Amino acid sequence: MKIEYLHASVYGNGAMVAEECKKLMAGKGVEVDVHHIDGMRPDSMPPADLYVFSSPGRFGKPIKEMRRFLEKVNLPKGTRYAILTTEPSPKPDKKTGKMPTDEEVDRYQHLISIMNEILLGKGLVKVAQTKVYVTGLKGPLEVGWQEKVKAFANAILGSP
Ligand SMILES: Cc1cc2nc3c(=O)[nH]c(=O)nc-3n(C[C@H](O)[C@H](O)[C@H](O)COP(=O)(O)O)c2cc1C
Repeated sequence: MKIEYLHASVYGNGAMVAEECKKLMAGKGVEVDVHHIDGMRPDSMPPADLYVFSSPGRFGKPIKEMRRFLEKVNLPKGTRYAILTTEPSPKPDKKTGKMPTDEEVDRYQHLISIMNEILLGKGLVKVAQTKVYVTGLKGPLEVGWQEKVKAFANAILGSP
């Protein structure tokens, strides 16, 4: 199995996640080629069995470079893909101290739904998606982030 992993990391967190995923996959005999989308051509992607697209967020959406890239992606219908986003970890409400529910977060964070909408609209098939949190706007990754990457890699490998 061969995976092409395309990320749009600005501050390096998503790039670290990509390298961790590559390392984990290598341990399972799966080759992962990691690229920043700068310098990649969405209409002429290297062949692979599966593509991972990873984006940081900006204003509730995937960063615009990734949105534009995905809109131009040209892959055969039925191609399998997985999505990973790096997003700020949800914080407790300043007044009540309560953590926001997933539903509340989804009201302002639309990264994954926008990325899926574009790719599913092209006839691609989703096999996994996850969020990895950063604790500040520019990082670092939250404690224990490697566990999420492991679960993400396992979800990809366990997909039919
Ligand atoms: C100006 C600014 C606005 C941001 N807005 C969002 C946002 O709306 N949603 C989100 O998930 N992340 C937002 N972020 C945080 C990014 O998700 C974070 O910088 C990124 O995950 C870090 O990954 P990277 O190091 O790979 O770039 C914002 C960051 C900056 C600097």
